[in-house]
Amino acid sequence: MRLLIKNAEIVTMNAKEEIIHGDILIEEDRIVDIGEITDVQADKVIDASRRTVVPGFIQTHIHLCQTLFRGQADDLELLDWLKKRIWPLEASHDAESSYYSAMLGAGELIQSGTTSIVDMETVHYADEAFQAMAQSGIRVMSGKVMMDKGDEVPLRLREKTTESIQASVDLLEKWHNYDNGRIQYAFCPRFVVSCTEELLVEVRELSEKYNVRVHTHASENRGEIELVERERGMRNVVYLDHIGLANHRLILAHCIWLNEEEKRIIRERGVKVSHCPGSNLKLASGISDVPGLLSGEAFVSLGADGAPCNNNLDMFNEMRLAAIIHKPHCGPTAMDAKTVFRMATIGGAKAMGLDHEIGSLEVGKKADLAILNLNGFHMYPSFGVDTISRIVYSATRADVETTIINGQVAMENRVMKTMDESIVLKESNKAIKRLLAKLPHVF
Ligand code: GUN
Ligand code: FE
Repeated sequence: MRLLIKNAEIVTMNAKEEIIHGDILIEEDRIVDIGEITDVQADKVIDASRRTVVPGFIQTHIHLCQTLFRGQADDLELLDWLKKRIWPLEASHDAESSYYSAMLGAGELIQSGTTSIVDMETVHYADEAFQAMAQSGIRVMSGKVMMDKGDEVPLRLREKTTESIQASVDLLEKWHNYDNGRIQYAFCPRFVVSCTEELLVEVRELSEKYNVRVHTHASENRGEIELVERERGMRNVVYLDHIGLANHRLILAHCIWLNEEEKRIIRERGVKVSHCPGSNLKLASGISDVPGLLSGEAFVSLGADGAPCNNNLDMFNEMRLAAIIHKPHCGPTAMDAKTVFRMATIGGAKAMGLDHEIGSLEVGKKADLAILNLNGFHMYPSFGVDTISRIVYSATRADVETTIINGQVAMENRVMKTMDESIVLKESNKAIKRLLAKLPHVF
């Protein structure tokens, strides 16, 4: 299959961060040519005149299992949000609800130009979520959440250490490198609060053995870090380092409440930070010192987190927030549009360890991209305005016209190609209705 995209403005995000006008030729899952392309036979041609092509966005912290809970947990801070709403809801999932939660989330991501995610499923039914991810066409690094500790965790989510590990390894063996590497496994201990040291140490060893990422939450909330310090006798990131988890394979969502020693550990060990500004504001968690981390050359990328703490999975929202929320504290030049756009593309690829494959539009890389129509009233005047500034500060997800992942068209002219939109919407309502009916004491 050869796909030719013609006459586009192409934001390459290559090493020189060139923006060029021309064509992109895709063969199977890869970009095989960029520039002025003539005399080629293609199976399909997309006319991208007056359109802008960008690398697909990469969100490094998502919970597809929570998409069905959008709007069910507003106006709470993290620990209440988890105990009163999210854990009971996750505990009520069934196989079908897990599948549709992932389909709904993947559909929303594709519609808004996100082509890759680092995801965290719930304790049960991750297999059904992987099936949805496989079908939707999205690129993922995901795993079942691991929770073997915590008095206030519903029984249904509370795992035996060995069972949690076995279930994770079983899923890894089934899904890791599925579809030519489009789907990869990551171990997902929820956060230190809900994991024993035995589990965390085992996860470290397994991530080394299989060379896969560890995806977890850290230092999101003051109550959380106080709890960790009380129980483990150390600050959260110092503890992660103490048990050997702080290394280049570790992806930490949030990292708001860090001291200087913890920032140093993150930088020196090559730990990846996923900044989730929408979630951090809505859960009243705080504002991460991303400008400080970046000035020390830490790896920082972006994520929307789960639907019930945002309540969108929209990278345009996260880019805009990441660009503007740090300015009151750090000054107007902090987090300029280019810095943020880098985090949203090649920065996410580095977090996933896939920067040789995705994150920029270059010959030889996977064909993961979004075609934007930046011609609405909200995008004008365009004359003399930098394209990246237009995308970060003015564009919205409704401006995404077509999304291609792994060379496959997942949405074209806003029509979903890998799922029946009306069925996913209808089934998501049916599923959340069924889950809420199981929780009369909560809702
Ligand atoms: N910390 C532990 N679990 C979660 C979760 O599901 N979402 C967020 N935002 N933080 C967490
Ligand atoms: Fe999260």
